[in-house]
Amino acid sequence: MGGEMTAQYQDGAHTSLWLATTTRPSYAELQDRLTVDVAIIGGGIVGLTAASLLCQAGKRVLLLEARRLLTGVTGHTTAKLTTSHGLIYASLREQFGDDGARTYAVANQAAMQHVLDYLERHDIDADMQRFPSYTYALDDEQRPQIEEEARAAAACGLPASFSEEVPLPFPTAGAVVFQDQAVYHPLKYLQAVAEQASVLGGQIVEHTRVLQVIDEGSHCLLATDHGLVQAADVIVATNYPIYDPDFLYTQLATHMSYALAVRVDGDIPPGLFYSVEEGFHSLRPYRWGQQDALMLVGGEPHKTGHADDTVQRYQRLEAWTRQYFPVREVAYHWATHDSDTPDGVPYIGRMTSPSGRVYVATGLKGWGMTQGTLAGMLLTDLITGKENPWASFYSPARVEKQRAQFREETEKMAPGEGKIIELGHTKLAVYRDDDGRVHAVSAVCKHRGCPVHWNAAERTWDCHCHGSRYDVDGHIIHAPASADLEPYRAR
Ligand code: FES
Repeated sequence: MGGEMTAQYQDGAHTSLWLATTTRPSYAELQDRLTVDVAIIGGGIVGLTAASLLCQAGKRVLLLEARRLLTGVTGHTTAKLTTSHGLIYASLREQFGDDGARTYAVANQAAMQHVLDYLERHDIDADMQRFPSYTYALDDEQRPQIEEEARAAAACGLPASFSEEVPLPFPTAGAVVFQDQAVYHPLKYLQAVAEQASVLGGQIVEHTRVLQVIDEGSHCLLATDHGLVQAADVIVATNYPIYDPDFLYTQLATHMSYALAVRVDGDIPPGLFYSVEEGFHSLRPYRWGQQDALMLVGGEPHKTGHADDTVQRYQRLEAWTRQYFPVREVAYHWATHDSDTPDGVPYIGRMTSPSGRVYVATGLKGWGMTQGTLAGMLLTDLITGKENPWASFYSPARVEKQRAQFREETEKMAPGEGKIIELGHTKLAVYRDDDGRVHAVSAVCKHRGCPVHWNAAERTWDCHCHGSRYDVDGHIIHAPASADLEPYRAR
């Protein structure tokens, strides 16, 4: 194995299996100023699903991709087409009650069905296979969580149950099993979706980067590096939004994990597997034709930009795989990337821009095959004026609730007081001055990311790691930090 401490992980090609095994048609750059009904920014699963549905609904659609279609987050998925999203249903029940959890389940089930129906209706060979999905516990301590998840998912009407039988070559403490889930080759599917959108009159441009979204109220203008686009409606489908009037970035946490596609001697476990341990491991098979098969292994997650040992993460993932499977070779290795919302539910819906006609989908939490599809479906309904039963559940407007929490907490602060307030994943360093004005900045030191602490005597935010200090508005007053703390706009 390539387990030695090399500067670079070298086993297998450094590309996703999906990108390596498709020849993708290329699309021209934007040529002229265009006026369309809907402009979609981003050529991944959200953008392409929306493009094809909106074209079917008779809209004039332009999809703009800054690089090549499907080379972003969608091209680096492990492509599990499932409503089983780790441990989520018990948490949703707790946060949103039975109705909320059921909405999530129904929406994701509909998205999964949408893909399966599409493949069948258009007779697309996307190497799809049906398997059960297993979210498993490694020890008895985790077992109650798994049992609770099985109950919560079943209560949402999903085909879920607890089982002691987990077909893996190491002991587990049981799993929540979802019957009849699927794996497939996402790019074979989405290329067909892109082609269909083109056939229906949709325009796709590549190598055209949107630099600015200008909402004029009556319409939107997109300034790109190849000219202007005018659109009545705009979908921001760039994974992490490039236009963000709701400051969703204050809520989103990004994370990375790593994937290997390996050839093994012997059988590949028949299922989708996901462990609930802290640094999860996931497995899924991929087979095309009759002869060859690969096993996809995922894991080693970390917050984006918070790991110095990224080469070793591939090595550890390979070592873990070799511990349990006779690996013949690593064929491909790649990294995945996505973002989470604090409540585990993506933000999909209308943003509060002047026209009310700019839409977003973000925070898909690594489950983009269903959540990205449902985003395309939901946003199409919003744009075409069709009622959608999931709309309020997914709406980014719930962020406003957290802002209310911010207001509530800051109202309780005395003049001269500084404290750390946690809003979802975001830690804020907040100070109320003697005149009652609130100053809020990120509590993450710009030097190496340690949390800052309030110094009541000096009225400064001080970092215990290497001594950086900032004033109440986040301006540096002492090195080693060389940038100010990010401001928080509570709005
Ligand atoms: Fe704050 Fe180094 S991380 S000073």
